[in-house]
Amino acid sequence: MDIVDRIIISEDDIQRRVRELGKAISQDYAGKEITLLCVLKGGLMFLCDLAKHITVPVAYDFMSVSSYGDATESSGVVRIVKDLEESIEGKHVLIVEDIIDTGLTLSYLVKNLHSRNPASLRICTLLNKPANRRVDIPIDYVGFEVPNEFLVGYGLDFKQFYRNIPFVFVPKKEYIQNA
Ligand code: IMP
Ligand code: MG
Repeated sequence: MDIVDRIIISEDDIQRRVRELGKAISQDYAGKEITLLCVLKGGLMFLCDLAKHITVPVAYDFMSVSSYGDATESSGVVRIVKDLEESIEGKHVLIVEDIIDTGLTLSYLVKNLHSRNPASLRICTLLNKPANRRVDIPIDYVGFEVPNEFLVGYGLDFKQFYRNIPFVFVPKKEYIQNA
């Protein structure tokens, strides 16, 4: 693909790691049911692959929050665009995210979700970009630590496109600049 400058995480590496995470989650939640809370739209691809490797009963729910608009820098403004359909009171909730960057989105979400009294609330993110962190949040499951670069693919978009690409890549500068 013409937009790809460098592949950061290959499809094989993602799938291998997702299997490991699924196994760890299945062991940690043995004897329980989990609600996977997908943060749209970035977490969708990861949720689908991850769920296949979880062996305890899994339900899904979806939430959409916006922090970025279409820019490539976090605005710090978080807004619930779509809320959960089901109550999470008394449930074991695992948030499934594509990437944690500044942490602003997640820290807002976690506060909001805690007030709804789940039995437990944990975070699983495919990618962690610690260099840019502005608020400290405990992450329970991390797929990969990534460098402080703008990344695209496997859920991550550039202007809403390329979320479907099965690997994570750095786009060519000229694409970002001329967009
Ligand atoms: P945070 O609030 O800064 O942690 O960022 C949260 C959201 O910003 C993520 O869930 C992504 O949707 C988006 N995001 C952060 N870094 C990137 C990136 O490198 N590429 C694409 N989207 C990103
Ligand atoms: Mg996201």
